[in-house]
Amino acid sequence: MKMSRVATLQFAAFHVLVVLLSVGADYIPPSRVDGFVYENGSLDLLDTILIEAFYDPVCPDSRDSWPPLKQALHHYGSRVSLLLHLLPLPYHDNAFVTSRALHIVNSLNSSATFPLLEWFFSHQEKFYGAQTRNLSRASIIEEIVKSAAKVVGRSYYNAIKKGFNDTKSDYQTRVSFKYAALRGVYGTPFFYVNGFLLPDAGGSVDYKAWRKFIDPLVGDKKSAHHEESLHFLS
Ligand SMILES: *[C@@H]1O[C@H](CO)[C@@H](O)[C@H](O)[C@H]1NC(C)=O
Ligand SMILES: *[C@@H]1O[C@H](CO)[C@@H](O)[C@H](O)[C@H]1NC(C)=O
Ligand SMILES: *[C@@H]1O[C@H](CO)[C@@H](O)[C@H](O)[C@H]1NC(C)=O
Ligand SMILES: *[C@@H]1O[C@H](CO)[C@@H](O)[C@H](O)[C@H]1NC(C)=O
Repeated sequence: MKMSRVATLQFAAFHVLVVLLSVGADYIPPSRVDGFVYENGSLDLLDTILIEAFYDPVCPDSRDSWPPLKQALHHYGSRVSLLLHLLPLPYHDNAFVTSRALHIVNSLNSSATFPLLEWFFSHQEKFYGAQTRNLSRASIIEEIVKSAAKVVGRSYYNAIKKGFNDTKSDYQTRVSFKYAALRGVYGTPFFYVNGFLLPDAGGSVDYKAWRKFIDPLVGDKKSAHHEESLHFLS
């Protein structure tokens, strides 16, 4: 990712964070913008429609909202980008450790982040409260490390295990939580489009609803470019 793109988003979204939280612990502000960019997405805000999703890896509503969003992202291609933020909800057991696993894996191989998120979505019930009630914290982490290594590649096993022993991934996950709090997000999933909360969204935005929201924006962007080029020609 080009530095200028990072800088653009930092300017757009993080100056508030810097001002409000600079008196906090030393990992605020973070050294890079919070969130994971999906596939070919870009953070060049002047060139793409930016969807921000706030997800909890063990939240059923987040899970259910992902396939239609993914379908929409593939439909729009480079015209729309997704920046995914994690909000580990305090009332979901194992939300923090699964979120931390995503940060660890993202720093090892960023192409594996969304595959791991999808793995968590499809094996979510393994990590719900009732199912893990009798398990120790260490054994849950071990299970997560093993599973993540299955998705990323066996050779990553030690690195992922080490990641859970490294305060950096703990800080990154805290930053995700704080960033969501700063944006006023109090549940998952939450969606923002170009910085504004998606109207009437609730949890259940299906593919048709995404098309209804995004089609007019894509149209606007096209005609804006068209006007620019006409202006250039005249
Ligand atoms: C990203 O690019 C690849 C290769 O061109 C393509 O197959 C994929 O669908 C693209 N992803 C999105 C979300 O547009
Ligand atoms: C990174 O992850 C992707 C997706 O899981 C995988 O295809 C790729 O081989 C991995 N790269 C390395 C260097 O392990
Ligand atoms: C947890 O332990 C209790 C008491 O031994 C048992 O009744 C319960 O079925 C166990 N739950 C699970 C999910 O293993
Ligand atoms: C975790 O950190 C402790 C203390 O720094 C160290 O003794 C231990 O070997 C580490 N474990 C792993 C799996 O890296």
